[in-house]
Amino acid sequence: MDNFQFWSPTEFVFGKDTENEAGKYVKKHGGTKVLIHYGGNSAVKSGLLDKVKISLAEQDITYRVLGGVQPNPRDTLVYDGIQLCRDNGIDFILAVGGGSVIDSAKAIALGVPYEGDFWDFYAGKAEPVKALPVATVLTIAAAGSEGSGDSVITKEEGGLKRGFGSDLIRPRFSIMDPQLTCTLPPYQTACGATDIMAHVFERYFTNTQEVEVTDRLCEAVLLTMIKETPRVIADPNNYQARANIMWAGTVAHNGIVGVGRSQDWNSHGIEHELSALYDCAHGAGLAVIMPAWMEFVYKHNVMRFAQVAVRVWGCPMDYENPENTALEGILCFRHFLRSIGMPINFEELGAKEEDIPALVDKFGIGDGKTGGFVHLSAEDIASIYRLAARAQI
Ligand code: NZQ
Ligand code: ZN
Repeated sequence: MDNFQFWSPTEFVFGKDTENEAGKYVKKHGGTKVLIHYGGNSAVKSGLLDKVKISLAEQDITYRVLGGVQPNPRDTLVYDGIQLCRDNGIDFILAVGGGSVIDSAKAIALGVPYEGDFWDFYAGKAEPVKALPVATVLTIAAAGSEGSGDSVITKEEGGLKRGFGSDLIRPRFSIMDPQLTCTLPPYQTACGATDIMAHVFERYFTNTQEVEVTDRLCEAVLLTMIKETPRVIADPNNYQARANIMWAGTVAHNGIVGVGRSQDWNSHGIEHELSALYDCAHGAGLAVIMPAWMEFVYKHNVMRFAQVAVRVWGCPMDYENPENTALEGILCFRHFLRSIGMPINFEELGAKEEDIPALVDKFGIGDGKTGGFVHLSAEDIASIYRLAARAQI
């Protein structure tokens, strides 16, 4: 196990009707003038936005509202948000929605006290020294942004999707009422489930030896997702299954299942170019990319892939030829994704094989290599896109 530092200071407020306590927690965490940030219509339609407003008013907290965050959130609305906060002396940002809303809120939080362009952080040109506090009322189990220090924004000009991470933007608190996720369409539920599993796999495939506790935590989250996802697809109002998935989503990405080991993250980088170009859901893109990445890299550590096949997918171990077991595990993953309604190749995602050179170009590693498990070149990444494009089961 490697040395590590784990810091996850977010206060998680989990359970039925907890959204009615949003005002109380904003006050507890020092907010007096709040920006409520939300997405399209879902939080309005469900009545959630009104509940949050009432709960702030009950605590005599004033607020301004900025909706309109699109999935794969754009820089343009971030600039509007920064201006609105500056004009109104906002001192706290409350994101009401999913990963896109939360990431947009985090970007605004970084931009308000910064004199330059907030994109400097995402372009790797500057490091922030302060940010407004951010908190969340989560409406979808997926990105894990409610517990992470990460934010992913797309720059409209040029369609560049880039991530940035800092502990300054870890949410102060996150309100998580599983009931709020019952209105999710099955496709969006499945995209979220795929993203949660991908967050675990990015950490599971490591070159660090003997991190047994982290391995076992990862396997627990994966087994939970394999059990609970079909239950919510079949019965969207299953509270217990929704609750387990919601907490799995946080555990998968607040850092706890990655401590003490190297991590990979190439599948995420490769996927982000798909959602930037085609504006597809991040989870759907991962469903196409991650099994292809697995096929491309499994020979790097066959026994690790065989281990996940046996422990998570329940495959029998082929002791004479462990490669068969490793490959069977990858196949099980693809079958699972298909069973929950995810795409498994470019055509099903709405992507085009002829765009692969452009995707690789935008990925932008030039002659370098990237990835924590297997270092990949631009040509390797093109090969993974091709495997993903043509995948069949
Ligand atoms: O905009 P509204 O109307 O709210 O609709 C949203 C949106 O269309 C809808 N939705 C959310 N909650 C709902 C609901 N519909 C009905 N009922 C509800 N309760 O779902 C759609 C997708 O929402 P979005 O926020 O985009 O989903 P998700 O949480 O999957 O976030 C995806 C974004 O997060 C980034 C992704 O790249 C993508 O941009 N990620 C962020 C990470 C982070 N900050 O740590 C890590 C991830 O790996 C990921 O990259
Ligand atoms: Zn993700």
